[in-house]
Amino acid sequence: MLVFIQKNYEEISKAAARVVSETLYEKPTSVLGMATGGTPLGLYKELIRLHKEGLDFSKVTTFNLDEYIGLPPSHPQSYHYFMYENLFKHINLDERYIHIPSGMVDMNDLDKIHQYCEWYEQQITAAGGIDLQILGIGANGHIGFNEPGSSLGSRTRIKTLTLSTKQDNARFFENEITKIPKYAITMGIGTILDSKKILLLASGKNKAKAIKDTVEGPITAQVPASIVQMHRKAILIVDEDAASLLDNEYEEIVTNLE
Ligand code: PGA
Repeated sequence: MLVFIQKNYEEISKAAARVVSETLYEKPTSVLGMATGGTPLGLYKELIRLHKEGLDFSKVTTFNLDEYIGLPPSHPQSYHYFMYENLFKHINLDERYIHIPSGMVDMNDLDKIHQYCEWYEQQITAAGGIDLQILGIGANGHIGFNEPGSSLGSRTRIKTLTLSTKQDNARFFENEITKIPKYAITMGIGTILDSKKILLLASGKNKAKAIKDTVEGPITAQVPASIVQMHRKAILIVDEDAASLLDNEYEEIVTNLE
């Protein structure tokens, strides 16, 4: 696991964009795992800028980590909407290669949900697996919507959102917890671990405890992100606030990523 500490949010966004663009220059047909939330916004802005300078996405395939159950793609808080607004509509991805889990599965038909989740996994496999998975981290240590206690071997499935995640995300729902969907569909921790490379980003003091536990704590399902310790190519890029509880010394400049 490589941990890079950058000064601030702007610097982590730029460093992350370097990792993504290097991946695309090396393999223009890369499969990218995409994340939503506040953290990757700076990275996506930077990718849009690099696209204007020639970074080509035409052969790239994407798979998003998760989606709220019950929100149609047109809902401003859906992750479909987020991805199109903040990245997809500004770059030259081929729409046929974009995959985002559907939030419109019927919660009364568990067999169908199971089939749909299996289908999503099969699409990832058929695309050759994810080359680079971008991740944020919840203040509670979640990755995707794999909340504390999620099986470390889990695959794509439905999860119930914890109260702490709802409190963190209430800002996107007019600060009303009751407006936040109860469930989400999410890639599992096992799905994420199958990615060839993982790029986890964190910014801000409210992530410091989760980063401390992820990097220097034991691997535990209570901190789902701690499983990245097991991955052979995990890169963590965090700002000084998110790194503020770390005890050991880490890299300061993103250089050799292999
Ligand atoms: P945030 O969310 O980037 O909005 O902090 C991260 C996450 O919950 O994974």
